Amino acid sequence: MQEIKVGILGLGTVGCGTADVLARNAAEITRKTGIPICVTMACVRDKNKTRECDSDTFSITTEPMDVVTSPNVDIVVELIGGTELARDLVSAAITNGKHVVTANKALIALHGNELFRLAENAGVQMAYEAAVAGGISIIKSIREGFAGNQIEAIAGIINGTGNFILTEMRDKGRTFEDVLAEAQELGYAEADPTFDVEGIDAAHKLTILAAIAFGTPLQFEEVYTEGISKLELIDVDYAKELGYRIKHLGIAKKIDGDLELRVHPTLIPEQRLIANVNGVMNAVLVKGDAVGNTLHYGAGAGADPTASAVVADIIDVARIMSIGARSYVPGSGFTAAAIKNLPVRKQAEFECAFYLRFEVEDVPGVMSQLSAVFAEQNISIEGITQKEPKKGDNSVSVIFITQKTVERSVDEALEALKTSKILQGSVAKIRVEHLD
Ligand code: NAP
Ligand code: HSE
Repeated sequence: MQEIKVGILGLGTVGCGTADVLARNAAEITRKTGIPICVTMACVRDKNKTRECDSDTFSITTEPMDVVTSPNVDIVVELIGGTELARDLVSAAITNGKHVVTANKALIALHGNELFRLAENAGVQMAYEAAVAGGISIIKSIREGFAGNQIEAIAGIINGTGNFILTEMRDKGRTFEDVLAEAQELGYAEADPTFDVEGIDAAHKLTILAAIAFGTPLQFEEVYTEGISKLELIDVDYAKELGYRIKHLGIAKKIDGDLELRVHPTLIPEQRLIANVNGVMNAVLVKGDAVGNTLHYGAGAGADPTASAVVADIIDVARIMSIGARSYVPGSGFTAAAIKNLPVRKQAEFECAFYLRFEVEDVPGVMSQLSAVFAEQNISIEGITQKEPKKGDNSVSVIFITQKTVERSVDEALEALKTSKILQGSVAKIRVEHLD
């Protein structure tokens, strides 16, 4: 083999980043693989667009199928995004005997079961490190580094755009819309940014992490998903006063043989390392029975960090090709026959502590009425804080932090409060995790 030929589908943020890293680190990469890796072809929608990378050394087409069928391509790098066209292209690439590298978490979360099977049967690699947490090599860590463990829990800040928005709003008082626009300009956000702010992108990533951690099929539809768009700045500030930070977390836990798969804003004690992960940075906490707690940190989005993971996958595939091996790690980390479903708990069964903010009239007896409703549900209260009355009316914010409880009990208490007429507005309910 003289060289390994790469075809890139899409020359946007990540595609150009990948072409650029491959070109600028070519000599160092060849020292690692023994064989040069060259981009031979790429596809785009609009040939006239100015590119962020040097695209003069390879051919460019607007026909993506030309890349996946070309005899001049050994590894297809899918960086177009979306699920339907991407699925057709990746399937065609595999059928044509090409190895595939992708950063597309939506594709893996929704169609990964079928694509892994297809790749395994065809004897080609399907690598996707860049699909989760940008430049952090979290797939490799869980699938290979922690292969000797039973994974107990994963909790991660796995959407860079969301973390960037929360950090800028909290630290600089900027508006949600203003920071989102900047995240789009910087190339952090998805083509449809509602994926970032409504938690869908994090749910795609959690789906992948859970499957490789617990040996289950990819099951995106089982992930409970809440985004950051409804989070109020007042709760970010109150949480800070109480010694917490609010982070958007993806959480996957194995509890008594069941799984909890959830994505939502979460209060974390401010002294936890993960509570101090800011801006576009991501961090993933992995707890294994042997290794204990580990924390993995790095840039979660952007051209170079994501390209770092894409190129690492290309190098892995090149190494496998160069020794003529079929593969050394199954796509999900478990042998296909051993992958099995585990029961996934519904929201009502989630177990955690809660931050609850009530707006109530500032009159005697309100606090004891609130407390009585929670006592009725056997929910222990960790702390209660009453804020100053608001100017111009007689309402006050009251914040309860509960001890760990089952979510159904909290919802039943909130339902009972609705009929008691002491509430003056909607209740803010945010889950709390201590991540011990
Ligand atoms: P992007 O900037 O929008 O780039 C997409 C590229 O695909 C563009 O070059 C576009 O061509 C091309 N393309 C789209 N549809 C096409 C079609 N039908 N035919 C030919 N070319 C087509 O997207 P991105 O941010 O690089 O993201 C790519 C993938 O990586 C997505 O799956 C995303 O979720 C994932 N990802 C992104 C990041 C990040 O930080 N951005 C991080 C991790 C993973 P034109 O340029 O001509 O429009
Ligand atoms: N839009 C994604 C994010 C890109 O902001 O995390 C990285 O997957």
